[in-house]
Amino acid sequence: MSPFRCLGLSGWIFSKLTQQRRPLLALSVLVLFSGLAHGQDKAAVWKTASPYAGPEACKTCHEDIYNNFDKSPHWKTTVDKRGGPSKQGCEGCHGAAAGHVDDPGDPKKIFSFKTASAKEVNQRCLECHSSGKDHMNFSRSVHNENNISCLNCHSSHHGMTNEHLLIKAQTDLCYTCHQKIKPQFNMPFHHRVEEGLVQCSDCHNPHGGFIGKQLRSAAARDSVCFTCHADKQGPFVFEHLPIKTEGCVACHSPHGSPNPRLIKTSNLNLLCLKCHTASTFSPASGTPDFHNQAAQYQSCTICHAAIHGSNFDRHMLK
Ligand code: HEC
Ligand code: HEC
Ligand code: HEC
Ligand code: HEC
Ligand code: HEC
Ligand code: HEC
Ligand code: HEC
Ligand code: HEC
Ligand code: HEC
Ligand code: HEC
Repeated sequence: MSPFRCLGLSGWIFSKLTQQRRPLLALSVLVLFSGLAHGQDKAAVWKTASPYAGPEACKTCHEDIYNNFDKSPHWKTTVDKRGGPSKQGCEGCHGAAAGHVDDPGDPKKIFSFKTASAKEVNQRCLECHSSGKDHMNFSRSVHNENNISCLNCHSSHHGMTNEHLLIKAQTDLCYTCHQKIKPQFNMPFHHRVEEGLVQCSDCHNPHGGFIGKQLRSAAARDSVCFTCHADKQGPFVFEHLPIKTEGCVACHSPHGSPNPRLIKTSNLNLLCLKCHTASTFSPASGTPDFHNQAAQYQSCTICHAAIHGSNFDRHMLK
């Protein structure tokens, strides 16, 4: 038996060749297999090379794309032979293309990302990109659930950013669909995302994750905020409970706010008293009687200065 893989067995090359008598291009090698030819009029032809044509074969007809390919991070796949030809070069994404090289007129013979559905696109790209911790949750992401594909944000051949093959740089990329978020970053107090200091993707993973709102998690704790505000992480001898139970957004609007320190309410006492009432429904204690809510007592953090937790004082006074 021939040491070559006899793909003629699948039948398609055989029928194609006998019908069309096209010369096989590129790497294809024709081998006459006399045993079969015996029973047939025409010479049966076994294709011994693979259904893969290799990137060189694309150059003649897709010159621009071919010439730009060596600047793409995906060029690397042409030299990494570990996954075999199905993971290499053009065909790593577009699939086996010897058939297409033979018969470019038949759109069925090539995987086109332009006509594929979002789910099909994602599946293709994730064949190589599902292992890293950054992408392994894509299939459960809100983006995926809403039929967003990799190509809503990335382009393999026409990326507009130097990094990450993005079709647009952040924040414009995200605002394409999240118009409603934009005004929040124009509020008087905001994380400087528009200014380029912080990025949407510092807090969110556009590829999804385990936490709600596609938020990223910081290394040791569950809140993304600790990545940059490590001093708020503790542990403290006296913790302020809501930080652990409800997170930073119990008191802060993470994008932007009309109030200093991104506080949710315009008067600080209203924020604190939302929980610290005498009500039996609130797990928080009421305020002591001497907190008479005269102006002096409205700025709670004048006295409760260590509002994120304290190692010295049960009432977080220092
Ligand atoms: C003999 C010329 C020829 C060769 C060689 C060739 N193609 Fe094509 N290709 C075409 C033509 C013609 C079309 C259809 C017209 C178009 O959309 O540009 C096409 C279309 C495509 C499409 C679909 C475009 C779309 O709209 O999504 C892809 C993808 C593609 N080719 C990839 C390849 C790859 C990969 C190779 C190399 C393995 C290759 N082609 C080799 C001529 C060729
Ligand atoms: C990482 C996956 C990937 C690789 C590798 C890849 N392509 Fe594509 N190709 C795409 C995607 C995705 C599109 C849709 C347009 C886009 O996003 O840039 C596309 C579109 C095309 C088109 C349609 C025309 C166009 O400009 O959009 C052709 C032709 C094509 N690719 C040929 C090739 C050839 C030739 C190679 C190798 C030199 C190649 N592709 C390598 C993913 C890939
Ligand atoms: C909603 C927009 C969006 C979608 C959808 C999206 N990405 Fe991304 N991707 C980004 C942004 C923004 C970055 C750069 C910032 C970052 O690292 O998260 C990025 C970075 C990347 C990187 C390089 C950095 C890294 O983390 O390794 C890869 C690889 C990647 N994306 C692959 C994919 C694949 C594959 C898909 C589809 C399964 C996809 N992306 C879908 C926005 C998106
Ligand atoms: C055959 C495997 C394979 C397929 C399929 C594949 N990629 Fe990649 N991709 C790679 C490799 C390898 C790299 C380079 C990683 C590196 O540099 O460490 C890469 C890099 C990237 C990057 C990172 C660029 C950067 O600057 O950080 C993005 C974004 C990306 N791919 C998106 C996609 C998208 C979108 C698709 C589907 C259209 C896709 N990939 C399909 C193998 C693949
Ligand atoms: C400082 C961290 C941070 C940055 C930067 C950030 N976000 Fe958020 N975002 C959050 C948090 C935290 C939530 C969850 C708020 C909540 O649960 O009340 C959120 C919620 C969201 C939501 C869901 C909104 C809703 O009403 O449920 C969207 C959409 C969103 N962000 C988009 C963006 C976009 C787009 C950008 C960049 C322009 C961005 N975010 C930048 C932290 C951030
Ligand atoms: C092509 C459109 C599109 C783009 C681009 C896009 N998103 Fe989304 N995003 C959606 C849709 C659709 C949803 C689900 C409906 C919703 O919550 O608005 C969503 C949801 C979200 C959510 C809310 C998740 C939740 O649990 O409610 C966040 C956060 C988010 N996107 C962040 C981003 C960030 C960050 C970027 C930029 C890197 C981005 N998106 C780019 C379409 C997009
Ligand atoms: C990528 C880093 C980064 C992450 C993640 C981050 N922040 Fe910030 N944050 C900053 C920077 C930088 C400032 C300084 C404000 C400035 O000058 O723009 C800041 C300022 C603040 C302020 C004070 C604003 C003021 O007026 O002094 C608050 C409150 C805040 N962040 C809350 C949060 C919360 C809540 C989260 C999580 C949802 C978070 N941050 C996540 C970088 C970050
Ligand atoms: C119980 C309400 C509450 C919670 C929950 C809370 N904060 Fe605050 N935070 C405040 C108040 C009130 C201020 C303003 C203090 C002042 O102005 O004296 C503040 C101020 C800040 C500041 C700016 C001043 C400083 O101390 O650096 C940052 C940054 C900040 N908070 C981050 C966070 C982060 C990160 C979390 C989550 C780990 C968080 N906050 C949770 C109430 C809260
Ligand atoms: C989301 C609800 C919530 C908000 C908002 C909140 N707290 Fe608390 N706070 C609690 C809970 C729950 C405890 C722990 C139970 C307790 O001892 O009251 C606590 C504990 C305290 C304690 C310690 C009480 C003790 O007896 O040890 C002080 C002081 C305090 N909070 C002050 C404040 C101040 C000042 C603000 C406004 C900046 C504030 N809290 C906002 C829920 C909240
Ligand atoms: C002038 C300083 C000052 C201001 C302003 C102030 N507090 Fe206090 N607060 C204290 C002191 C001192 C204690 C401790 C009393 C004690 O030792 O029993 C305390 C105790 C508390 C306690 C604990 C009650 C308990 O049962 O142990 C809560 C809750 C509290 N304050 C909430 C608030 C809130 C909410 C505000 C703003 C509306 C506020 N405080 C403003 C000084 C202040």
